[in-house]
Amino acid sequence: LRILVASSEAHPLIKTGGLADVAASLPAALRQLGHDARLIMPGYPSALRQLLEPKTRCELRVPGARTSVRIVEGLHPDHGLPVYLVDAPDYFHREGSPYTDISGRDWGDNPERFLLFCRTLAQLAMGLPAVGWRPEVLHANDWQTGLTPALMHDLPERPATVFTIHNLAYQGLFDRATFDRIGLPAALWNVAGIEFHERMSFIKGGIVFSDRVNTVSPTYADEIRTPRFGCGLDGLLRQLGGRFSGILNGIDYGVWDPQTDPMILQQFDAEHFGLKTENKLKLQREFGLPRHEEAFLLGYVGRLVEQKGVDLILAILPELLQDANVQVVLQGVGDRHTEQALHEVARTYPRQVGVLIGYDEMRAHRVEAGCDSFLMPSRFEPCGLNQLYSLRYGTPPIAHRTGGLADTITPVDAETLAAGTATGFLFERSRPEELHAAVDQARRLYREQPEHWRRLATTGMMQDFSWEASAQRYLRLYEAALEERQAQAD
Ligand code: ADP
Ligand code: GLC
Repeated sequence: LRILVASSEAHPLIKTGGLADVAASLPAALRQLGHDARLIMPGYPSALRQLLEPKTRCELRVPGARTSVRIVEGLHPDHGLPVYLVDAPDYFHREGSPYTDISGRDWGDNPERFLLFCRTLAQLAMGLPAVGWRPEVLHANDWQTGLTPALMHDLPERPATVFTIHNLAYQGLFDRATFDRIGLPAALWNVAGIEFHERMSFIKGGIVFSDRVNTVSPTYADEIRTPRFGCGLDGLLRQLGGRFSGILNGIDYGVWDPQTDPMILQQFDAEHFGLKTENKLKLQREFGLPRHEEAFLLGYVGRLVEQKGVDLILAILPELLQDANVQVVLQGVGDRHTEQALHEVARTYPRQVGVLIGYDEMRAHRVEAGCDSFLMPSRFEPCGLNQLYSLRYGTPPIAHRTGGLADTITPVDAETLAAGTATGFLFERSRPEELHAAVDQARRLYREQPEHWRRLATTGMMQDFSWEASAQRYLRLYEAALEERQAQAD
């Protein structure tokens, strides 16, 4: 199959979260299976800098755009995957994140920026002679690509379309004046189109107009069909019936494997679990904590946003840290007030809490490798990659039973412990006392039953969350989308 995967970020070209990991490793896995998958994304400066063998393929006129758009084709630096960059300097050559300026505010022209991306995608997906390649399936991801299926769905020769929801909480909502300004077909302003409570919704474009829609875990697929998690779109998702499903993400063990990871001090595997301690001692030093082998060292890495439940961690710290043998390291960027609060606990408990406010890839690997246990109290979590990394690094996760966390962690109880199947700890409700109880359970097991702990950690290390099985599921989804498309055309 010829598959064009569209995403607003891809590791290592540019990354703010897990979408970037998936956007790079899924097409690479599809190629491994013998398919011609390619990636397209906006031409951010860091992507243009890292692309190998870049060549300008063509210049396009895109309706409504202030300038013409250059399509640059090259190779992904890690996977040899063909990548197209949509180079439009007015729109994408900026310092800051793909979505916000340096101070964290959304770019005011985000609707124009991502509409330009969607329009370009639609043209390329229809097959540009100058590019000489035409996909059979367009796989769009998250709201930044959501208008593409809406723009194409009427075109008789269009490819089949698949839309993946990585996070339903980000919908790309803008007011009516924006809709009028950016010149979309008036017919889309409709509840059966992209109108959502009197605003325009990019994500609805993907959900309503794609041949198949999925999200990134079976449990999150169930959750977002309910009002509690559905962000106002649960009814629409229920209506999709069998056209909507959940496929768990894989992870790239080429990047995340303690046996080969060049970013950690001491490589190790399940048979040499004891070597992990070297990484712990190094991590304690990196975070300015006393080096102390006996400490129970907890870690957190992630975006500092409401979703991730960092406030629950902050709420339990004062009590938890009365145990002088508990240490916590936290790393992230996001809400200014959460960043402040983290700085403050680090100041209050300099011997027990280490904080890094910032994005640091290398350090994220070291936190996974050096901690005893990983905290993931997310209120909701479509899939979550960090718990999969922590499983692989022998760092049992402590997580809220939701979304992909529920699907990938086998929680400790008397039975799973005896059977040797447990891989982590789950708590039921997003409340500080429940997180605290789970951390206590972990801390006791770590201290009182080191043999059980070792078994727990090494069982996690041996789980297989590689892409192969998930990539096969995506192939079946693409085939179903193609059949549906075929049936419409006949
Ligand atoms: P989400 O996509 O919601 O942010 P995931 O768990 O799927 O959550 O993926 C998060 C990814 O981003 C992981 O690869 C994680 O290591 C990375 N990450 C998040 N914050 C940071 C940070 N401050 N420094 C380094 N890596 C980070
Ligand atoms: C989103 C979700 C996260 C998921 C990632 C990749 O950012 O928040 O749970 O793992 O996308 O699919």
